[in-house]
Amino acid sequence: MNVLVTGGCGYIGSHTVVELLNHNYDVVVVDNFSNSKPNVIERIKKITGREFKFYELDLCDKSKLVDLFGENKIDAVIHFAGYKAVGESVAKPLKYYHNNLFSTINLIEVMNQFNVKKFVFSSSATVYGDPEQLPITETAHLSTTNPYGTTKLFIENILNDVYNADNNFSIAILRYFNPVGAHPSGLIGEDPNGIPNNLVPYIVKVANKELPFLNVFGNDYDTIDGTGVRDYIHVVDLALGHIKALEYINHNKGIDYYNLGTGHGYSVLEIVSTFSKVNNVAIPYKIVKRRDGDIATCYADTTKAKEVLNWQADKDLAEMLKSAYNYVLMNRGE
Ligand code: WQD
Repeated sequence: MNVLVTGGCGYIGSHTVVELLNHNYDVVVVDNFSNSKPNVIERIKKITGREFKFYELDLCDKSKLVDLFGENKIDAVIHFAGYKAVGESVAKPLKYYHNNLFSTINLIEVMNQFNVKKFVFSSSATVYGDPEQLPITETAHLSTTNPYGTTKLFIENILNDVYNADNNFSIAILRYFNPVGAHPSGLIGEDPNGIPNNLVPYIVKVANKELPFLNVFGNDYDTIDGTGVRDYIHVVDLALGHIKALEYINHNKGIDYYNLGTGHGYSVLEIVSTFSKVNNVAIPYKIVKRRDGDIATCYADTTKAKEVLNWQADKDLAEMLKSAYNYVLMNRGE
């Protein structure tokens, strides 16, 4: 089975390409390096010992996408490519709507042209907004609070309409909670440009002495210690969830949604203390005011992915946080 992976050099995309190759899929990767680096290609090949085709192209360039589908018999698509910085999306909404929506529409139109009907989409728990009840199930109310999250929700709606118009599609929409960590080899991992928005990559830079201290965004939430609680999931567990989703859509037409989380929430201060302990490094921090748009608590009900996809996360918080730091230690000076 030949799988096209868009954004396959990115953080979650590269880990998924590794698992696809490990599971003997053939893979074609597309990336425009807007949030990834070319050296990931060779590193994936080194980890897996397998070759795969790569195209540097932007999904908004439809003619090049048609050429790719013409040159390769694609059986299924896993779609990661898209801008994903929440703060930037608030400042530059049209950049996010144009890129994330038109690239996806192009992709689906070309899939239709070549009769490719199997699609796994990288969505996000951000579509749940501030949850009314916990843990969050796939039937929870959907609402978004920033343009990035709104592009994810729009694409979910587009996919629903595409399926309603053509029941030959098999679509799995995967709603990620908080992906963290890195491949145990230390060859691929989370490598954000500039100052990270997300908690764990920020903590890693503090540990690596690239930043002086962590700003803890509020300790007055109604949580175990007042700081925000999230469902952190190891990126390799997340990648394996894509393999299970692909297996499922390969035998089942339809469209469905799945939470990919652990079902357990940890607070910011629990992450800080666990990171310090497992990596034997101090993480100085300051309590500052809440970040606009943040919610208190978010963690997944993971029943559906377990029952339908036969998937559940199994890597613990210690492995998540050790692997995150190991990646930076292994790539100092890169
Ligand atoms: C986690 C917790 C912060 C940074 C975001 C996106 C979401 C998804 C995952 C793509 C919160 C606190 C953070 C810091 C802090 N991305 N924090 N100091 O906000 O749950 O989700 O990433 O799909 O769309 O919204 O993740 O890592 O930014 O924050 O105190 O410097 O850490 O307040 O409680 P979040 P995060």
